[in-house]
Amino acid sequence: MATYRVLVSDPISEIGVAALNAHPDISADFKTGLPPEELISIIGEYDALVVRSQTKVTAEVFAAAKKLRAVGRAGVGVDNIDRAAATDHGVIVMNTPTGNTISTAEHAFTLMLSTARNIAPAHAEVLAGNFKAARKAYQGIELNGKRLAVLGMGRIGSEFAKRAQAFNMKVVAYDPFLTQSRADELKVELAESPDIALNGADVVTLHVPLTDDTKHILNEARLASMNPGAIVVNCARGGLIDEPALKAAIESGHIAGCGLDVFEEEPPPADHILFGLNKHVAFTPHLGASTNEAQENVGIQVAEQIRDFLATGEIRNA
Ligand code: MLT
Repeated sequence: MATYRVLVSDPISEIGVAALNAHPDISADFKTGLPPEELISIIGEYDALVVRSQTKVTAEVFAAAKKLRAVGRAGVGVDNIDRAAATDHGVIVMNTPTGNTISTAEHAFTLMLSTARNIAPAHAEVLAGNFKAARKAYQGIELNGKRLAVLGMGRIGSEFAKRAQAFNMKVVAYDPFLTQSRADELKVELAESPDIALNGADVVTLHVPLTDDTKHILNEARLASMNPGAIVVNCARGGLIDEPALKAAIESGHIAGCGLDVFEEEPPPADHILFGLNKHVAFTPHLGASTNEAQENVGIQVAEQIRDFLATGEIRNA
C-alpha cells in the first residue's frame, strides 16, 4: 500500500503521471474534469494535488483537504489556486516556471504576426470562396522597424524580445525587476513604467502575472498613448486588459487590432465584445503552452517536484 496518494486533476503528460507512480511510496490517480463538488468530496484522501489551469483550487477545496501538503501547478500562472487559503492550511504551492517558456513566446509571436497580416479573417474568407475580395480587403502591417513594448521581461518576455529583434523591431521593456545591466545584455530599452513603455509603441505584448496591481494594466489611457494603428498581443492572462477599453480603441480606429490567447472570462462567451471585429484579429483558446514539448516538460517537472517533496521534503519553485 502506497504511503502517499496524489490526485492529478487536469491533463498532464503520461510520462509525468508514470514518474509519480514509479515511486514505491506514491500512488497517483488521474481524474480530470471533476465538477467542484466531486473534487471537494474526494480531496480529503490525497496528500498532493497536481493541476494545470482548469481545476480551481478554492478555499472550499483546501478546507476539505485534510491531508493535503502540496499543490503542483503544471505551468506558470497560479491564479487558479487560492494561495492565501493554501497558506492558511499549511499547503505548499509549486509551479513549473521554465517548461513552457519557448512555446508561449512562440505562440505570442505567432499571434503578433497573424494579427499584423490578418491571417485568421483572411483564412476564413478563402474558405468561404471570397478569395478575390479578401485580396483587396486585407492589407497588413509590416513589423520591420516598429516599436515593440514588452510588459513583463521575465523568461517569456525575453524570448519574445529576441525574436522581435530578429524581425528588426525596436524593443522597449517594462518590468519592475529588470535592471539596466540585464536590459543592456538583452539590447532593449528599459522603461521605468508601463506608461513610458507604451507611449509611442506600435505593438504591445503582455507577459506579467495577473495580480491586483496588474489587473487592467492595459487600460484606456495607455491604449490611447500608443501609436495610431498599433496592435495588442496577449498570451498571459485576460484580466490584464480592460476589454471594453480595447474594443472602444479598435472601433475608434486608433488601435488596429489584437491577437489574444486569453480572455478575462474563460471560456469567453460566444458573443464576446471583441468577436465582432473582422480585421487585424487572431483569437486562440489559451493555447500558449499547448505544445508536445511544453506539456512534456511541465508534466515531468511538476511530477518530479511533487515526488521529491513527498519523498524527501524538498521544495522547488514554491
Ligand atoms: C501557464 O500559466 O503556464 C499557462 O497559462 C499555460 C496553462 O495554463 O496551461
